[in-house]
Amino acid sequence: MCGIVAYIGNQEAYPIILKGLQRLEYRGYDSAGVALLDQKLTIYKKKGKVAELEGSLIGKNLHAKSGIGHTRWATHGEPSDRNAHPHRSPSGKLAMVHNGIIENFAPIKKELQNKGYVFQSDTDTEVLLYFIEDIYHNDATSLEEAVRIALKRIIGAYVIILLDEAHPDTLIAARKGSPLVIGIGKNEHFLASDASPIIEYTKEVVYINDYEMAIVKPDELILKNPGNERITPFITKLDMELAAIEKGGYEHFMLKEIFEQPTAVFDCLRGRLDAKAGTIRMGGIDKHLELLKEAKRIILVGCGTSWHAGLLAEYVFEELCRVPVEVEYASEFRYRNPVINPGDVIIAISQSGETADTLVALENAKNQGAFIFGVVNVVGSSIARLSQAGAYTHAGPEIGVASTKAFTAQITVLYLIAIKLGYAKGCLSRDRYLHLIGELALVPDKISEVLKSAPAVAALAEKYKDARDFLFLGRGYNFPIALEGALKLKEISYIHAEGYPAAEMKHGPIALVEDSLPVVFVATKDSYHDKLISNAQEIKARKGSVIAVISENDTVFQDIADETIAVPAADEILAPLLSVVPLQLLAYYTGLAKGLDVDKPRNLAKSVTVE
Ligand code: F6R
Repeated sequence: MCGIVAYIGNQEAYPIILKGLQRLEYRGYDSAGVALLDQKLTIYKKKGKVAELEGSLIGKNLHAKSGIGHTRWATHGEPSDRNAHPHRSPSGKLAMVHNGIIENFAPIKKELQNKGYVFQSDTDTEVLLYFIEDIYHNDATSLEEAVRIALKRIIGAYVIILLDEAHPDTLIAARKGSPLVIGIGKNEHFLASDASPIIEYTKEVVYINDYEMAIVKPDELILKNPGNERITPFITKLDMELAAIEKGGYEHFMLKEIFEQPTAVFDCLRGRLDAKAGTIRMGGIDKHLELLKEAKRIILVGCGTSWHAGLLAEYVFEELCRVPVEVEYASEFRYRNPVINPGDVIIAISQSGETADTLVALENAKNQGAFIFGVVNVVGSSIARLSQAGAYTHAGPEIGVASTKAFTAQITVLYLIAIKLGYAKGCLSRDRYLHLIGELALVPDKISEVLKSAPAVAALAEKYKDARDFLFLGRGYNFPIALEGALKLKEISYIHAEGYPAAEMKHGPIALVEDSLPVVFVATKDSYHDKLISNAQEIKARKGSVIAVISENDTVFQDIADETIAVPAADEILAPLLSVVPLQLLAYYTGLAKGLDVDKPRNLAKSVTVE
């Protein structure tokens, strides 16, 4: 949440920062701003998307060799020019951008107000900046020292980057709980919330750790720990291509990412699953197989779509590995006092690897002795680094705010783990094991088949786009998919949508069914199929409109439903990899039909680095 980018070197800073902000806009898009330093510090900021800022700066002289930029997801104070970052210090000489939340900003603000400071915005960021400058002027010999002193008092999460008019050759950055990557060029450095603004210029990056501070000059990167000792930057090579973060001819990132799912699942299986040899090889599992086999309990932790992947994994692990499983919302888990016993394994699920609630939940569990296994997409992210073992999902960068290919890749990894572990534990016969891995290998091609239904789903979206509410129903392995379908639709189209286990309808929600309420059944052929048919009849009897995702050739459901979208037949355990795709398309095309910005839905942002 909030994207920050900065540059120092020999090139013009503004175009680099602007492009960086466009790439980071998925993290927040309430307002954007840039501070440029060319002898004097100039700050430009604007409510709205980065394009508004860009438009307001046409024709301006924006010459500068260093600068900082920000695209905001509002926490303290409404989206406005005034609350946009960068903020300027009382003397006018410092500018700062911030991603995160300063939890104890209120008492510090009071103290500063008592000293006579007058604030220009409602933000916690401005309070931290004023606090830093107050220390800089009164108690410190350098800005670096002032930042260090100030941060000792701060509770919360942050990445900050400061620009100082008195020292145009230096940027100062610090992090705790929010991500920061520094790209190393030739006599230049690029700082950003993730690697996407950097990849075009250099593949050599340093991921900054919590409590580290970076003093960045064009030709030097000094890293320090909170004790003011220098530490050696650990340089990593980015394994990412520029094309992966561009739209590649698609109208939206979301559509591109939905269509990338055959490749995402294939990449996730590649090098791991060998259907001919009948093997699954996963370094993170192989190394800890005994520990996983002995696990007394598996606890899956995540948020949002990643939590839905965890819920599906609960069904799968219980079935294939016969191990007790719990699924936890990270935001609840972190504040409860959960009982963690020796032998508990926590599987953390996160696309970004930066979700604040998930990160802290894991830190707490790790401190209580749990073993943390990460299922993460973003390489080098905080959760990936905190995990003691893990398996990357290899979905490639996901830029659309609504998660699509990251979800299918997450569940693919979870299937691989469950099948491998179930077989190793002796819970799966060799035949069943070989059948499942054979079926898994067919999934990429089957998803390609499902994608051919896109025009039909678009027509359906057009027909139902004005509905006020939607219900999504499923049972068994398709229940988490019903929840995911509802989440996608509300995120992208702003239509109120609820997901339920179909059998729960008669315990309350059926009261909502009235003439033509669209009810989406996730109804691929499985052990619940007959029951689901009865549930669909109950909806029809009350004049609801039944839209069903079915297995091909399911004539029974075709007769009941008003609309059907067929997906290829698959083992019932793996069917969610197919049944979720039409629901993603439904959300996308409904948002599109309503004229909404599907890649940047209102109030949302990707990578939720605030709790
Ligand atoms: C929904 C969505 C969110 C994320 C959630 C967790 O489309 O994208 O619900 O799944 O914020 O994010 P990660 O997986 O990055 O931890």
